[in-house]
Amino acid sequence: MRRAIAEAVRVLRAGGLVAFPTETVYGLGADARRPAAVARIFAAKGRPADHPLIVHVADQAEARRWARAWPEPAHRLAEAFWPGPLTLIVDKAQDVPDEVTGGQPTVGLRVPDHPLALELLRAFGGGVAAPSANRFGSVSPTTAAHVALELGDSVDLILDGGPCRVGVESSIVDLSRATRRAVAKGADADADGTDRSSERAPRLLRPGGLPRERIEAVLGAPLSTGPGRTRAPGTLPSHYAPRARVLAVSAEALDEQVERVASAGEGPVVVLGPRAVPGAAHLPLPADPEGAARALYSALREVDARRFAVAVVPLPEERGLGAAVADRLRRASAPRPGPDGT
Ligand code: TXA
Ligand code: MG
Repeated sequence: MRRAIAEAVRVLRAGGLVAFPTETVYGLGADARRPAAVARIFAAKGRPADHPLIVHVADQAEARRWARAWPEPAHRLAEAFWPGPLTLIVDKAQDVPDEVTGGQPTVGLRVPDHPLALELLRAFGGGVAAPSANRFGSVSPTTAAHVALELGDSVDLILDGGPCRVGVESSIVDLSRATRRAVAKGADADADGTDRSSERAPRLLRPGGLPRERIEAVLGAPLSTGPGRTRAPGTLPSHYAPRARVLAVSAEALDEQVERVASAGEGPVVVLGPRAVPGAAHLPLPADPEGAARALYSALREVDARRFAVAVVPLPEERGLGAAVADRLRRASAPRPGPDGT
């Protein structure tokens, strides 16, 4: 075993925090069986304690230990996409600590597709609860240096696995009981006649590194969208935001919007996208959605590092990874809560 992995396992067993690379973004991990260790994650992130964490495991067999039951769609999706950028929400096993699930009856599970993460999870042999390794509400880290800059001393160990290959967080699919039971019943209307069919299908809680189209192809049915009954704080409107104002615009309106913002006198304007626009600085983002996803969070950090006041970003087409990129850009451009939390 690599020395760094042995050290990381030692830190986890002692109740410490280990930041580790995954294919999506870096995670901030703790032993998911130890409430005190999990509490340290919330303190380090400045995250409200009722927000649930994803439990990272080495394989499907370990995932099942955290679930009350393992529904057929979970098996099918895990077989098709794990290790990979997909988180499954299922009913939790009784012994899963409330600190991990934010008190909800469900748990999020994922097998990450990164050699270091898998080595760590296999050597550790249990579940590692890990949110993205950033301060609450800010941009997820895609390099070890991002983690060090943002969380520094509050992490006991950072495993450096280089830049993340996917670059945006996992796709989250809710397969929990409320959803499943209704699917099994197959009824589209409640006793009161209300059509609840859209609440019943497996639900995409967060578009991410695994395109929706691929998930639907394996399920053989469309995913429903939106927050539904399960709360997912990563779906707060103003998540994933840099300090600068982000303005997500349609690709057609880019030039016009840049001209408008540049003349408004808010400060230096930068365009984040495949092409430069007169009147603004330019930070290139690849035109292909995979490339854009990989580069997006680094680019948003660069916007702040270079002290731009406004970043104008053309929205990609919402197919494949373009849906996740567009989702993060919309959230980054949503109105921010004030310092008093309003
Ligand atoms: O790619 C990823 O998913 C990364 C890497 C580190 O695995 N993790 C990540 O974690 O993005 P985090 O905590 O930043 O976002 C996890 C999202 C949150 O929106 C949370 O609300 C949702 O997953 N989540 C976790 N458990 C849940 C549950 N039981 N029910 C509903 N949502 C849940
Ligand atoms: Mg996060």
